[in-house]
Amino acid sequence: MSIAPHGGKLVNQVLTGRERERALERAGSLKRIVLDSWARSDLELIATGGFSPLTGFLKREDYLGVVNDMRLADGTVWSIPIVLGVSPEEARGLKVGEEVALVNEQGEILGLLYVEDKYEYDKEIEAQLVYRTTDDAHPGVNKLYARGDVLLGGEIELINRTKPEKFPELYLDPADTRRIFKEKGWMRIVAFQTRNPIHRAHEYLQKCALEITDGLFLNPLVGETKKDDIPADIRVKCYRVLLEKYYPKDRTFLAAFPAAMRYAGPREAVFHALVRKNYGATHFIVGRDHAGVGTYYGTYDAQLIFDEFEPGELGITPLFFEHSFFCRACGNMASNKTCPHGQEDHVFLSGTKVRQMLAEGEMPPEEFTRREVAEILVQYYQSKVRGG
Ligand code: ADX
Repeated sequence: MSIAPHGGKLVNQVLTGRERERALERAGSLKRIVLDSWARSDLELIATGGFSPLTGFLKREDYLGVVNDMRLADGTVWSIPIVLGVSPEEARGLKVGEEVALVNEQGEILGLLYVEDKYEYDKEIEAQLVYRTTDDAHPGVNKLYARGDVLLGGEIELINRTKPEKFPELYLDPADTRRIFKEKGWMRIVAFQTRNPIHRAHEYLQKCALEITDGLFLNPLVGETKKDDIPADIRVKCYRVLLEKYYPKDRTFLAAFPAAMRYAGPREAVFHALVRKNYGATHFIVGRDHAGVGTYYGTYDAQLIFDEFEPGELGITPLFFEHSFFCRACGNMASNKTCPHGQEDHVFLSGTKVRQMLAEGEMPPEEFTRREVAEILVQYYQSKVRGG
């Protein structure tokens, strides 16, 4: 028995066959809304069931419930608004009840939206409640402030998928991963979210979790991230070399998570967990400052937020981990829960320090990053430095 999707049913809004052909024909004569890469990834994740139980972009009542109480209007837990913003001029040209075509920047048809609602919203309230800050230097808040001032809500249907340019084989839908886990006979599956190369601390968390589960679902986010995050294709190289050399093949599974990164810390941790449940995971790792950025969130805020729900409401079980590091006195990875030594024995490098080392062609210590990963990263940073 696999875990139930959020809301009970795996959503499928992907049109196929005759239905798709008819929709495509209709779409040609409809008004058009151009989706940016963020909205395109939301559209696909809704359609393929990654965002179950959502069947479209949020309508006003659901939006307000999500922003204020982390719940859809029917009470189902949902922590991040999935919305489609347009300009007031664009919105004025559209009527509730109208069907519109969703297209990419080249004008190619992606899907349909049934405009069931259009409404204005308060960006500062959303920023404060979802991101816990109104500072536009926060990358998620910055995106929110740039979003259209009117939101269109309603059901979507997907006609054409965007072909991934890189590593297409890693793009699997929730229905695929669920089938694969079943074939593998895994009952307890722990998912790991990351937007970074895998360092030793990540590996430690994953392997601790794997000790008490059947399989590790490595599910790196490969959608839009901020500019100074390491690009997904470089990270995928790192994941592959690590899996090849240091992970048991029959207990590890890698697939891409095509969503955009919100950097919403605690709220995004809940969202990440729910979505991984849709992909078939039963457990979800939440470590230090999950989905955080800068100093906007406390180290364990993304764990504390889970206390706001009854376990049954989320369905998936979060596994919390302390800040982990290599301890030279212990001779292994540890955290303050398991290590009695002082900071002088702990290998700790800030993100800035690591970037600086890599840019100068210097390998970070093995206790921080495996050599094979460090080599890929040094090469990447060196090419960046050379390319200006
Ligand atoms: S995230 O934005 O995707 O959360 P990152 O890729 O750095 O960022 O983290 C992936 C997961 O590993 C998150 O659950 C995060 O909390 C956890 N994590 C990262 N570094 C550490 C660490 N040193 N100790 C404990 N947990 C960590």
